[in-house]
Amino acid sequence: MTMKVVLAYSGGLDTSIAIPWLKERYDAQVVAVTVNLGGEKDSGDVHERALAAGAIKAMTVDGKEAFVRHFVFPALQAGAIYQGQYPLATALGRPLIARYLVEVAQRESAQAVAHGCTGKGNDQVRFDLGITTLDPSLRIIAPAREWSMTREEEIQYAHSRQVPLRLGQRSPYSTDENLWGRSIEAGNLEDPWQEPPEEAFAWTRSPEKAPQTPLYLEISFDQGLPQALDGEEMGGVALIQHLNNMAGEHGVGRIDHLEDRLVGIKSREVYEAPAAVVLHAAHKALESITLSRDQLRFKERVAREYAELVYNGLWYTGFHQDLDAYVRSTQRYVTGTVRLKLFKGSCTVVGRSSPYSLYQHDLATYDKGDRFDHRASVGFIHIYGLPGRTQARLQPLDLPDLGGNG
Ligand code: ARG
Repeated sequence: MTMKVVLAYSGGLDTSIAIPWLKERYDAQVVAVTVNLGGEKDSGDVHERALAAGAIKAMTVDGKEAFVRHFVFPALQAGAIYQGQYPLATALGRPLIARYLVEVAQRESAQAVAHGCTGKGNDQVRFDLGITTLDPSLRIIAPAREWSMTREEEIQYAHSRQVPLRLGQRSPYSTDENLWGRSIEAGNLEDPWQEPPEEAFAWTRSPEKAPQTPLYLEISFDQGLPQALDGEEMGGVALIQHLNNMAGEHGVGRIDHLEDRLVGIKSREVYEAPAAVVLHAAHKALESITLSRDQLRFKERVAREYAELVYNGLWYTGFHQDLDAYVRSTQRYVTGTVRLKLFKGSCTVVGRSSPYSLYQHDLATYDKGDRFDHRASVGFIHIYGLPGRTQARLQPLDLPDLGGNG
């Protein structure tokens, strides 16, 4: 009996040869679904290529708006950056793609969903968890987890089945792109001692070749959501696209990460994420003047949990919904404008302002107009130091010998 399979089709090497492979191995009718999250531009011919490879149907879903609104911006508000380096572009895209796949599978009365992930990565976990959580009745097939071909063998398989390949599919790198960033792995990047070669990058100019004059920009937020770029209001998708171009031009957004995968492997991953780097810096700067010290400290812990959860494929969980609710609540007064300077690969915050700023000049100033009561500090320090003095009196401190120079 033939079965109907909805395949997440990117047009890359793995998903292209997955079409004939699914037909041969499972006698499947393949419906190819391409989800556009703002990645590769030359996707004009994906449908023809999917059909040429043997799909019975090919369709594209434009997920850009939903991606920014429901995945990217909540993660930005959370400050979610995995291991302090990776803004999670690929990781945020997977749960949305999973949801579209499930929707198409239900509409098409398909019995299975397929994706091109290998058995070594995080993406298989994100897809499988997303799909089985949203519809446990769907069977999941991951051809690349079953076929164990090297990249070279895959290219040969493509030739033997007359699957047309694009030039990029012969590149030594495995890449994934969406609005929030470009992930690059494999090839010579697998040597963690070697600097990533220039040809690995596509969105960013090398800092050495970036313009000699800095670019200043202003980003405005409303309740933690980016609203305007240099005073011009625009939607999230356009704002991110603009920032990717502007910051990429100045060499901002290159990330070289020795990363810990969920499956236990340490792996060298390179990213380009110009807009994500700039927006995280700006958002953090705005939080620094609108949130209290306690809110900032606790939110840092939430950010780490949020990043782990996204990375580990746990988007569709109650834990995520709870953290998300907390994060949203923290953003009530994160409104204002941040000024940044982009220069030869660096992104520096140089100004911040907010109608809800907790920064009060008459408290902070060392000049005229100081309202802070200096004498009150004496009593404050006396009480603040009480437990320390008490303990040091009763339990003498162990102090190192400074060598008799005192
Ligand atoms: N290591 C990253 C992650 O797990 C990126 C994976 C990207 N996939 C790729 N084919 N390059 O999110």
